[in-house]
Amino acid sequence: MSEESAPFLNPPVARWRAHARDWNRRPMLVKQFMLFSAAAVITLPLLYMLSSRGDAALSIPEPYGGSHVQPFPPETVPEGEPAYLPSITAYPPYAGGDEHGSVATVLPPHIEDLSRPDRPGAPLETATRPQDVPAAAPSQPVTFALIMWSEHSASEGAILLKSIMMYTSVPVDVYILCDEEAQTYVERRLALVQRPRHPLRVFFYRMAWQAMLDRIEREGSISTVHAAGVPGLMKLFIHELLPAHVERAIFVDTDAFFVSDPALLWRQFDAFNATTAIMLPSHPEMFAPQWFDANKICSCVMLLDLARFRALRLMDSSAYRAAGLPALAPAAFRELFGAPEADTGRYAGAALGDQSFWWAIIRGRPELFMHLHYDWEVSSCLLDMYATGLTGSDAATIEDELAAQLHTWATPHQGEAIMPKLVHFNCLEGARYHEWAGWDDPTNSLAVRWAPAVRYHAGYKWLWLNQGQKGGAAVTTETVFDVRFADELHA
Ligand SMILES: *[C@@H]1O[C@H](CO)[C@@H](O)[C@H](O)[C@H]1NC(C)=O
Repeated sequence: MSEESAPFLNPPVARWRAHARDWNRRPMLVKQFMLFSAAAVITLPLLYMLSSRGDAALSIPEPYGGSHVQPFPPETVPEGEPAYLPSITAYPPYAGGDEHGSVATVLPPHIEDLSRPDRPGAPLETATRPQDVPAAAPSQPVTFALIMWSEHSASEGAILLKSIMMYTSVPVDVYILCDEEAQTYVERRLALVQRPRHPLRVFFYRMAWQAMLDRIEREGSISTVHAAGVPGLMKLFIHELLPAHVERAIFVDTDAFFVSDPALLWRQFDAFNATTAIMLPSHPEMFAPQWFDANKICSCVMLLDLARFRALRLMDSSAYRAAGLPALAPAAFRELFGAPEADTGRYAGAALGDQSFWWAIIRGRPELFMHLHYDWEVSSCLLDMYATGLTGSDAATIEDELAAQLHTWATPHQGEAIMPKLVHFNCLEGARYHEWAGWDDPTNSLAVRWAPAVRYHAGYKWLWLNQGQKGGAAVTTETVFDVRFADELHA
């Protein structure tokens, strides 16, 4: 039996995946419907007057080279200069409103300053890093922390890993929180590459299911019964799992791949200031009260300052409570979700898995957060990938792209052409996005726009990655068994 046709062996994960896909689909429909309805009410008269296309009329194109658009290709950005620094550090000025009416009504409510010193974690924060100075960038390679649980997940994640190797201009370290099946799948492919262009080190962190359950139990308030399930919740504990010398890491969902140099994404860390701990894409225009508005962010791609989360002691534990060490998250959770359920002590209403908890953390402690450009959040489950794709002319101009683009109105990137750098294919039927039947359907809009890219990256042979000199860079792997969480040091 080929590994591809091996039966899926892990029921809890099967449930996790099914739920995740299920859930992912629902909020989008609701979100799109709500957004569309609102947009229609506001803009139908305008549309009539302008006799123009939907979103083209909504997102007034700004002249290229405007304050938050870099008019040069990423290659010419000076070394150490984040490619999108202006739009990362501040929402562009249109956010105050334009002729479509005040967009303030769809922006998140102003969040009060919660950084008072008596908050858990605050003393540590000031002790470890002086305020008002940029955080010194650690000298570490471009580092990823990925979660691959089951062979299906690894078959997707392997394409992500392959794309990192295809496009990287620098050495890369990858930490993979995984089970044995996933490791076997990925190792078999890595073994085909003896001379990559750049060094690649892969660290397999073999997780025991029970160890993950136990950590969630020690935390005590987060719930495993929804969307992302047990492996998904591990996104909240990456700082506790990776070794202390790994100060920063990028998390990406497995069902995504790069179409650009991952070093460009790593460079976004340069925008971090003395309090930033997390950068991820955000959608102030989204709202869903039934999910506590957790759809305002996507935890599908995250730049994480692990050192800062360690210093702040992000997630709680019975071990920390016993040692009298306060954690950051509990107050933020309570603030957003209210009191946990009386009988279980859990936030059962936090229905979007880890994303709900990240949203609570970001909302409660906004100084930890920075926005990541949508160029890295082009997702089949989210806003129709802004209608980007491999259609139209390869000589399309900014104006052409803006005329075709969807769903950027009232976002931090209104008036900007989205230029995909990382693409993400979730909410598709089946266990592996790259084997989705829809890719062969010539009438499916997603397939028309993106199937060739999926086929190219899925089909690109691992052997072809042997592009380096003999005796040059290598691929090395290491396996860490019996992975422990940081809180266990206090047990
Ligand atoms: C860092 O940036 C964030 C987001 O722009 C902001 O909320 C925070 O106050 C900044 N922190 C410092 C120390 O400048």
